[in-house]
Amino acid sequence: MEVKPELLQSLNKNLALVGPSAIRAFDVEVSAIPNIIKLTLGEPDFNVPEHIKQAAIQSIIDDDSHYAASNGTLALRQAAANFLQDRYQVNYDAESEIIVTVGATEAIYATLTTILNPDDKIILPTPIFPLYIAVGLVDGAQPVYINTAATDFILTPDLLKAAIAEHGDAIKAVVLNFPSNPTGVTYSDEQVKALADVLRETSIIVISDEIYSELSYDNDHVSMAKYLPEQTIVLNGVSKSHAMTGYRIGILAGPAKLVQKIAMIHQFTITTASNPAMAAATEALGTEAGRQDTLDMKAAYRQRRDFVYEQMTSLGFQVAKPDGAFYIFAKIPAGYLQDDFEFARDLANKNGLALIPGSSFGPGGEGYVRLSYAAAIETLQEAMSRLTLYMKENKND
Ligand SMILES: Cc1ncc(COP(=O)(O)O)c(C=O)c1O
Repeated sequence: MEVKPELLQSLNKNLALVGPSAIRAFDVEVSAIPNIIKLTLGEPDFNVPEHIKQAAIQSIIDDDSHYAASNGTLALRQAAANFLQDRYQVNYDAESEIIVTVGATEAIYATLTTILNPDDKIILPTPIFPLYIAVGLVDGAQPVYINTAATDFILTPDLLKAAIAEHGDAIKAVVLNFPSNPTGVTYSDEQVKALADVLRETSIIVISDEIYSELSYDNDHVSMAKYLPEQTIVLNGVSKSHAMTGYRIGILAGPAKLVQKIAMIHQFTITTASNPAMAAATEALGTEAGRQDTLDMKAAYRQRRDFVYEQMTSLGFQVAKPDGAFYIFAKIPAGYLQDDFEFARDLANKNGLALIPGSSFGPGGEGYVRLSYAAAIETLQEAMSRLTLYMKENKND
């Protein structure tokens, strides 16, 4: 059906600032290639463990079919509070300091929309999960990108201080995401503490996206809330820890008075998450079996990371060793197509392997590709054979 053309002129003008997700657009483009291996989306290949599925099924059988409390069932909020306390030694009151969201995605939207006024500035260390850029722009804010490529994809206190000195009180918020999508890099206890020390002197709100916290390989994850609870909104969830992306359950935690404000946007947009999904997430976060699921998945991811890291570095890719999440962010070696979109397209078309062009993640991602190793080891082996062949046959003289 055709829309009356004038209507399109009067929509939210900020939408013109953002295109559709570059990652999804590229994924759709390469999906048309026959026999393609796609290591594109951040989508775990595991099925949801049986006891978690049963919890969702039981919720349906029990006619658990009415609106839950807007901030989520108390059982899940309590399980989330216990999880955060047990795993990261941070204390939140289940009743007043936690919201169950529809994926971390909704937590990002609700938090940014609560915080930002038009023309506020938001610090985005890049490369970054592009949703932060899109939602910030739609909310009318101005992103302040800090390119972290030269500091091994770590936001250093000096880089942060320089941005604060330049932009002053216009800065409302900073987004941190660790372990990081797209780089897999994470922050040590000292690094988290050093950033907290800088931010404590300001009124900047920290949005600490820790959705990959349970997939930290070499060191225990340290939450930003350990050092700066009064200024931090922590985002987490079960999408990555329990391969539950389709269940759409996220967790948001922060100081009560700030969380109450975010709860308003949450209520205006989604009312509450769905009961069967919340029952499943309660099982995932609140049981010993759920904890074991994550440990098993993490062991498999670690093996895959080691394999892909070793293969790609030996092909000449420069990779900041990923300590977490399930991504490898690799610099295209000299002697090949250097534009990351051209390289990724060429690789997909000639050898049937799809990776995401790094510039989709903002400044600092140019000349890189992101590989998601949340795929079976056999798939990764075949992917590396295809990449090896491509690198052999496409080097410029
Ligand atoms: C850093 C980061 N935050 C949030 C999300 C969204 O998570 P969810 O599927 O729970 O909405 C993702 C998904 O890829 C992510 O990588």
